[in-house]
Amino acid sequence: LINIGLLGLGTVGSGVYKIMKKNHENIKAKVGTKVEIKKILVRDKKKKRNLDINNKLITEDPAEIINNQEIDLIVELIGGENPAHKYIIEALKNKKSVVTANKLVIAKYGNEILNLAEKNGVQISYEGSVAGGIPIVRPLKESLAANRIKEITGILNGTTNYILTKMTEEKKEFADVLETAQNKGYAESDPSSDIDGLDAAYKICILSSLAFETLIDVKSIYVEGIRNISREDIEIADELGYVIKLIAIGKQGKDGLDIRVHPSFVPKNHPLALVNNVYNAVYIHGDAVGDVMSHGKGAGQMPTGSAVVADIIQAARNINYKNGNNYFVSARQDYKIKNIVEVKNKFYLRIKVNDKPGVMANLAKVLGDNKVSLASVLQKNRLKPVVPLVLVTHPVKEKYLNKSLEELKSLEDVIEISSKIRVEGDNE
Ligand SMILES: NC(=O)c1ccc[n+]([C@@H]2O[C@H](COP(=O)([O-])OP(=O)(O)OC[C@H]3O[C@@H](n4cnc5c(N)ncnc54)[C@H](OP(=O)(O)O)[C@@H]3O)[C@@H](O)[C@H]2O)c1
Repeated sequence: LINIGLLGLGTVGSGVYKIMKKNHENIKAKVGTKVEIKKILVRDKKKKRNLDINNKLITEDPAEIINNQEIDLIVELIGGENPAHKYIIEALKNKKSVVTANKLVIAKYGNEILNLAEKNGVQISYEGSVAGGIPIVRPLKESLAANRIKEITGILNGTTNYILTKMTEEKKEFADVLETAQNKGYAESDPSSDIDGLDAAYKICILSSLAFETLIDVKSIYVEGIRNISREDIEIADELGYVIKLIAIGKQGKDGLDIRVHPSFVPKNHPLALVNNVYNAVYIHGDAVGDVMSHGKGAGQMPTGSAVVADIIQAARNINYKNGNNYFVSARQDYKIKNIVEVKNKFYLRIKVNDKPGVMANLAKVLGDNKVSLASVLQKNRLKPVVPLVLVTHPVKEKYLNKSLEELKSLEDVIEISSKIRVEGDNE
């Protein structure tokens, strides 16, 4: 018998409870012994729960779980930094294996936690922390272990992907779609972690650490969210053969790691362009396998529950068969994280100018003087005095582009640099 202590019985905790109950026979066969949820920690015992559950299982006292000799495996589904981090550390010190879906804690404290688990001869698993139900952590650690991973590109946040999809399909502005998403429960009442890109940054931090076997400080990741994406940019992207997606990137280059989260123009024929609504996808390039893509539900009660219960099954098997064979991917490599200004990309620019003869020539000169060359130029609404000029550059280091934009702002007929969006997936 393997006893589990569940910390948290919210969205994911309830999903885990349901799956464990429904599939208990199947899980028993896979683990080789019975697996039981012995105790569940919640914040408020009196809260009404839409679950068929024996109230005796529920407690508000963490010690009843973390210090309980009978409990072998702790499943942390509280979320947030504290007390989740503290409970994970205490559990590992008490030689209990831990399963968690907490991206914040793994991204920020992954190395400390992995080392502690290794030292105590127990397992730490976190499949649910990245891309919900999509298997990605274990594939990177195990199924793709033969490869040197060169690149990971992902759509790792369902809320922003839903918003951008609806802005595209319904031709609406960001604020209107955000409100609908909140009403439908696809966006939180405080959506900033999602829409400002931090959630995706935690996830690409975890995936890049695994893929490149290094320690990545989440603070070193360049993060830009989708608040400034306008309907106009989406429409122009469409005309030019692109869609706009919030993309998380981890790339290994000769001069360091390039890790970032930002909205991107993605060519319509790129596999990530077809990932819509709350779906997530991860696209990986390995030196042996080539390109691999996984696609599925990146959040939600049952998809995330699926990943968490899979981790429970594996950890429980290891406990049952006294298998200390836990594969730790430790930070063995030391890389420099590239500053975004050193990264080379194609850029889409939308610039508001006075429609006068010679304006384009002046603009092109400033860009050319700064090593920025243009792949295409599009001028909209030619009949008005002030027009949006759309430019797509060839790949250029961002610092050169930024310098040219500063100079452009001082030109008399440049009214505003309205948008600057990186183009991903068709770099020459
Ligand atoms: N929701 C998703 O789709 C999803 C997807 C992937 C990963 N995750 C991750 O899964 C984790 C759980 O998310 P969730 O959406 O299930 O959260 P949630 O619905 O807010 O549930 C949190 C649970 O933890 C309990 N709790 C909160 N603070 C506590 C404290 N100080 N002491 C004891 N118990 C406490 C709550 O108790 P009460 O029930 O009494 O309030 C609740 O049962 C997070 O790390 C999240 O990032 C979630």
